[in-house]
Amino acid sequence: MKLAITGPTSGIGAVAFSQLAPHFNEIFLIARNASKAKKQIETLSTQDQKKVTFIYCDLTDMESVVLAAKSIGEKTSSLDVLINNAGGIFQNKEITKDGFEMGLAANHLGHFLLTHHLMTLLLASPRPKVINVSSEAHRAAKVDFDDLNYANKKFSSFVSYANVKLFNILFTKSLADKFGDAGLQAYALHPGVVKTNFGKETSGFFGFLWKLSAPFMITAEEGAKTTIYLAKSKIDSLKNGYYFKKSKPLKPSSEANSKKMRDRLWQESEKMLAKWL
Ligand SMILES: NC(=O)c1ccc[n+]([C@@H]2O[C@H](COP(=O)([O-])OP(=O)(O)OC[C@H]3O[C@@H](n4cnc5c(N)ncnc54)[C@H](OP(=O)(O)O)[C@@H]3O)[C@@H](O)[C@H]2O)c1
Repeated sequence: MKLAITGPTSGIGAVAFSQLAPHFNEIFLIARNASKAKKQIETLSTQDQKKVTFIYCDLTDMESVVLAAKSIGEKTSSLDVLINNAGGIFQNKEITKDGFEMGLAANHLGHFLLTHHLMTLLLASPRPKVINVSSEAHRAAKVDFDDLNYANKKFSSFVSYANVKLFNILFTKSLADKFGDAGLQAYALHPGVVKTNFGKETSGFFGFLWKLSAPFMITAEEGAKTTIYLAKSKIDSLKNGYYFKKSKPLKPSSEANSKKMRDRLWQESEKMLAKWL
């Protein structure tokens, strides 16, 4: 069994990576920081360390995403589980060198492109899975498909985050729609409100609320449980495309279930990423 995971250098992803390592024969640790990646690999047993390959990837740099997928393709001909876990909330509007709003690129576009370029490997596995780490924040989304990069409106850090976490669920459902018949299973999840590096740099009202909730947050070990459950368990095929919380299916917002929205997101994502597809 072969696993690839983004964001394994901190928080929920680091715990999922460590705990899943013994259950896989080959692991692709996809990260943007080589020294953090090395330290993370060294936390494993000597035997498990041998299974891991570090793949450099900055999800906000689309060229690097393409190269990361290519590099995985040079090392394996199939992939059983892809965990799209990396992400975060950005305090200020920042535009990547490719012209995308940073939160959109880090949480959605990078993963859309990575999954696209890994699809042949995934479909070469007998029961491939893609797991997308979303959030209950998706319920606060206010999507404007005509201006996904905030060119013509005021930037809101929280709304941008809520939107991309909705995109994680819409993307999951599109994957189930488009590749379910070919055997692909896709799941999205909310990990809980977890004490990690997430949100540490946010200020404003969201930052205030985040700091206020710190004493009630769960540990990264708790927060990684649903990801680990989805990666390891055999899930009923009728639940393909579902959103999970506490290792159980949960009804997401009505927007998250909208076919019109997921089709539009797919279309806009392809349009924005045309150069790298
Ligand atoms: N914490 C929560 O309460 C909470 C709640 C709901 C959902 N989530 C979601 O859970 C996921 C994991 O977050 P976390 O709480 O574990 O946060 P975290 O501790 O900040 O970890 C985020 C991970 O994403 C990686 N990452 C960020 N930007 C990247 C980029 N451009 N390219 C490659 N990797 C990048 C980080 O790499 P570096 O180590 O290099 O920074 C790190 O490994 C995120 O998708 C987040 O939206 C978290």
